[in-house]
Amino acid sequence: MNTQHWINHFEANTRLNRELQLPETPCALPENVRAALACSIATFQLGESDGGTRLRRYTRSIASLENLRGYQRAVDLFVAEEQSHAALLARTVTHLRGTLLQKQWTNSIFRWLRDLVNLEFNIQVLLTAELIAEVYFGLLALRCSDPVVQTVAKKLLRDEMGHLAFQRDFLFERLKTLTPAMQRLWRWQFQAIHLATAAVVSWDHRDCLRSLNITPADFRARAIRCWDNFQSRLERRLRESESQALQELASTPGYSRSSSATMQSPVR
Ligand SMILES: [Fe+2]
Ligand SMILES: [Fe+2]
Repeated sequence: MNTQHWINHFEANTRLNRELQLPETPCALPENVRAALACSIATFQLGESDGGTRLRRYTRSIASLENLRGYQRAVDLFVAEEQSHAALLARTVTHLRGTLLQKQWTNSIFRWLRDLVNLEFNIQVLLTAELIAEVYFGLLALRCSDPVVQTVAKKLLRDEMGHLAFQRDFLFERLKTLTPAMQRLWRWQFQAIHLATAAVVSWDHRDCLRSLNITPADFRARAIRCWDNFQSRLERRLRESESQALQELASTPGYSRSSSATMQSPVR
């Protein structure tokens, strides 16, 4: 994994968030839209404000792996960027005259779920939230007429797309060590968790979505497209890696077709 690329990316990008100037125009949205947006964005703000303690603890366990050298530093910077999102969203909630949350049920489930298995699962649950965030901020940027909400949503959308690429790089490194059957199993549970999350979020944020003329079903359909897009890119990389491993094997002195016939996968 090219962790130096991500270290450079986060170092440059997070500073932009801290310095981001927001329009000073007061909120002029109709009352029902303002109230629904403030409540919904406050929930996302709480989700972004996680300190990353457990994630950093997990990353320490793989810090010695050669292909993930520098990952721990990249994760520290990634967590700092998520906290800069929390700060931007807090400014947005204040602009919308909303109230910041200390606790919310979907956020509590997410935090519990993330700590269930291991680092890969923690990243996967985080990734699920980021796929949902991509749809959510994309819709806010497109459908909300408030300039502050638009400015923040566009910036967060760009950042979350970067986060998706960062998580994809990491998962590629980990999944390529699994057998094809285990990769399929991983895909199945990832898809199931993503579908369940999209259903819960589309229901929990239905007032906000409807105030932007989006049905919960439309939100779920967009979330499924984002998941398909992410997963097909990841699988393309895994296939390319597998065929490259086969080519390297074929060019190894002493390799013969008959010996390859006994192999189920070149990836260990
Ligand atoms: Fe974020
Ligand atoms: Fe993110």
